[in-house]
Amino acid sequence: MNRKRPVDGGVPPAAPSRAGLAALEAETGARLEAAGDLAALAALEAEFLGRRSTFNAWKRMLGGLDEAERRALGEVLNEARRRVVARVEARRAALEGLARAETLEADRLDLTEVLPVPGPGHLHLVTQIREELEDIFLGMGYEIAEGSEVETDWYNFTALNMPPDHPARSGQDSFYVDLGDGESVLLRTHTSPVQIHLLERGELPIYAVMPGLVYRRDTPDASHLPVFHQIEGLVVDSGVTFGDLAGTIGTFTKAVFGASVAARLRPGYFPFTEPSAEFDISCTICGGVGCRTCAGVGWIELGGCGMVHPAVLESSGVDPEAWSGFAFGFGIDRVAIMRHGIEDMRSLVENDVRFLAGF
Ligand code: DAH
Repeated sequence: MNRKRPVDGGVPPAAPSRAGLAALEAETGARLEAAGDLAALAALEAEFLGRRSTFNAWKRMLGGLDEAERRALGEVLNEARRRVVARVEARRAALEGLARAETLEADRLDLTEVLPVPGPGHLHLVTQIREELEDIFLGMGYEIAEGSEVETDWYNFTALNMPPDHPARSGQDSFYVDLGDGESVLLRTHTSPVQIHLLERGELPIYAVMPGLVYRRDTPDASHLPVFHQIEGLVVDSGVTFGDLAGTIGTFTKAVFGASVAARLRPGYFPFTEPSAEFDISCTICGGVGCRTCAGVGWIELGGCGMVHPAVLESSGVDPEAWSGFAFGFGIDRVAIMRHGIEDMRSLVENDVRFLAGF
């Protein structure tokens, strides 16, 4: 009956024999090695070892042999069958290994494609502007100096000609640090204290700029941050004039903003300079007609400047009869927003990568 016919080769097996077994084993071995995947192997396994396999047919036929031959051939047949089982298992293990490797390869996530590539990043806009300003002043022969962000009352106020009851102090609402006596240590409200450290060093002449962070109890708005960056300048030499100061400010504003932005000095007051001036540039957001960023006046105050007050030189041990100088200080964050037409200074500190990546 067709259903009972062994499937391997499609030809009903002859009676079991050693030669027949050896040939069968060789054939199964070769076909198992050729099985290309687990489905093909499963089909071969059914064909070689299943109910309708030659092995099974031969096993049944053993019953017709005499006792001694049945035992001898039966043993050979069983051993051959065990070897075929072992080869099927070995081939299955090999194919499973291949299948696993293929799955791993197919399922591998190429994260460099799936995720947005973050790239190496770049310096924050304010740092870029700070470095550009440093370069401009280095080009004019200045050195770069840095102070600390925590200062004593002496350096932040008193040595800058602002004794304890001086009204100008109240213009710089401060964050005091719980150190020392009373309110004597604070987060610096400006970079001007670094002037005092440089003067105390006693190495004259001085041509220096001093960039860094400063802190004030200000409410943030479009043009103010409570933590912001300033760059201070100090020149002390013999025979320095207000003309040198005006020329220096003019040179730097042109270098940073180009010729299309207007700059002006207007009389001002700072305890540590005499005479003093404030310097403004025309607002780059509205072109000088007035907007939210410049509070409608068309100008943005960048900073203050003036001739170093003799009292400041004296408090730091420098003879005001022999030396004179000018100083200036302005906000780097303001330079950044004016340079790039950024309407709101708070964007600089909101850490929105979509904004920051644009610069
Ligand atoms: N320290 C001042 C401030 O933060 C700015 C300033 C004004 C600095 C005049 C100076 C200067 O060096 O001469 O408001």
